[in-house]
Amino acid sequence: MFGPHTMFTTAISILALGAQLASAVPTIDIKGSDFINSETGDRFQLLGVAYQPGGSSGYDPASGIDPLSDGNVCLRDAALMQRLGVNAIRVYNLDPDLNHDLCASIFNEVGIYMLLDVNSPLPGESINRDEPWTTYDSSYLNRTFAVVEAFKSYPNTLLFFSGNEVINDDASASVVPPYMRAVTRDLKNYIKKNSARDIPVGYSAADVRDILVDTWNYLQCTTTGDDSDPSRVDLFALNSYSWCGDSSFTTSSYNVLVSDLTGTSVPVFFSEYGCNVPAPRIFTEVPVIYGPLMTPVLSGGMVYEFSQEASNFGLVNINSDGSANLLPDYDTLQKQFSTLNVTAIQGLPAQNTSVTAPKCSASLISAKSFNSNFTLPAVPPGAQTLIDNGIANAPTGKIVSVTKTAVSQTVKDSQGNIIQGLSIIPLSNDQSNNPSAISSTTTSSVTASPTKKGAATSMQRNWTGLSVAGALVTAWLSLM
Ligand SMILES: *[C@@H]1O[C@H](CO)[C@@H](O)[C@H](O)[C@H]1NC(C)=O
Ligand SMILES: *[C@@H]1O[C@H](CO)[C@@H](O)[C@H](O)[C@H]1NC(C)=O
Ligand SMILES: *[C@@H]1O[C@H](CO)[C@@H](O)[C@H](O)[C@H]1NC(C)=O
Ligand SMILES: *[C@@H]1O[C@H](CO)[C@@H](O)[C@H](O)[C@H]1NC(C)=O
Ligand SMILES: *[C@@H]1O[C@H](CO)[C@@H](O)[C@H](O)[C@H]1NC(C)=O
Repeated sequence: MFGPHTMFTTAISILALGAQLASAVPTIDIKGSDFINSETGDRFQLLGVAYQPGGSSGYDPASGIDPLSDGNVCLRDAALMQRLGVNAIRVYNLDPDLNHDLCASIFNEVGIYMLLDVNSPLPGESINRDEPWTTYDSSYLNRTFAVVEAFKSYPNTLLFFSGNEVINDDASASVVPPYMRAVTRDLKNYIKKNSARDIPVGYSAADVRDILVDTWNYLQCTTTGDDSDPSRVDLFALNSYSWCGDSSFTTSSYNVLVSDLTGTSVPVFFSEYGCNVPAPRIFTEVPVIYGPLMTPVLSGGMVYEFSQEASNFGLVNINSDGSANLLPDYDTLQKQFSTLNVTAIQGLPAQNTSVTAPKCSASLISAKSFNSNFTLPAVPPGAQTLIDNGIANAPTGKIVSVTKTAVSQTVKDSQGNIIQGLSIIPLSNDQSNNPSAISSTTTSSVTASPTKKGAATSMQRNWTGLSVAGALVTAWLSLM
């Protein structure tokens, strides 16, 4: 039926199509208290890092900058994160109206997910913890919905945080909780109506022990009797700094945390960890977080933080000319990550997929100061229309092809040697990054003979090529 010439041109166009298809991470779902890799059905754990270069001034709508708006910067940092072994970043302050396509696509190519806060420190862009009713309005919600619109189409958008440490003392605990459930409800209803994919929404809590368990219970419980109550969080995270230096499961009181949160109906993880006193850090909490004492209840965590800022938690020092140098903490963390058994972390069947949410009731709350009113503030005037019809001028995002893989900025290792040939290494479809996903041959100290891990890398890259060739052969055969 088809002459050789027709077959040839068909083959070429399929090849071209294959080349255009960017590989994508598998989306992550939530079932019970587990994150689930949607392709394998296995449990997924976060091996992440907080990413806010420039601190809060790294978000400056007036100058058109946020942490995911400059592809050259993201390329440099994605390459360094890939070597480190992380599979997720947390980004706090985003301008929904900027173009994030290249950064999101770069992180997608290297198998790194994004955990995104919908708020910012600017006026009108977050809930005020002293007087939440003054800030919960349709203009505020419009902004949070815009963040959803800007990021909903990237496969590596893993979740949204509706709030970060808004409840952090007795005073805020007495007024904020119903507003956190209300914002969660509005975001989840918006996503349900306006997003093709159901992206989870959760809360990132301050680790204030008197109110932590109340916060978790207040936010995870159901008012309707089933798990689909939209005002219920899909996940609960906490910013934990209780493991400092050469600590232990009990000295850090991680044991108390695990015992308190056992039986959680939603995934729980550290949205920040990495106490920096004493310094330099030794990160001995890493094997514990991913070990048998913690993983039955926690799903990993996010190290605070990638870039060195005034608060001194950085892994990498970024200079004003775009060059960067790794700090000793980067090396230490990389060593700790490299000891982890990736199969045990990412390759095990999900365990806790059918946990039922507790029914909301004042009896779940123990601190006197903590709000136990589960009648939520009504959706503010005008906001239901936004939820039902989508916001006006909604920003859009899409995966684009990443053509440049080599980092152009100078990056030095912690010894001051320039790292040669630093680049991102695109992973094949349905892969996420992990500490052994790429070789260590890109480190300046090991430049010669590829290790076993290096061999695995070229195989992975060849599999990408093979699957395109495979598709070509299949298509060609079906034409015969
Ligand atoms: C998950 O299941 C394991 C094994 O049954 C159990 O030990 C653990 O406590 C459960 N975790 C949660 C959060 O319920
Ligand atoms: C890694 O974990 C898997 C799954 O639990 C186990 O079968 C394997 O033996 C572990 N590998 C090592 C080197 O401990
Ligand atoms: C609970 O909150 C609702 C909504 O804000 C409010 O109308 C109601 O008066 C509150 N109930 C109590 C007992 O404070
Ligand atoms: C809602 O957000 C979009 C996108 O940022 C913006 O263009 C629009 O003006 C906002 N609308 C309102 C009413 O704030
Ligand atoms: C494919 O595999 C061959 C043989 O192992 C290797 O020489 C080559 O560099 C690989 N290609 C890529 C793109 O990694």
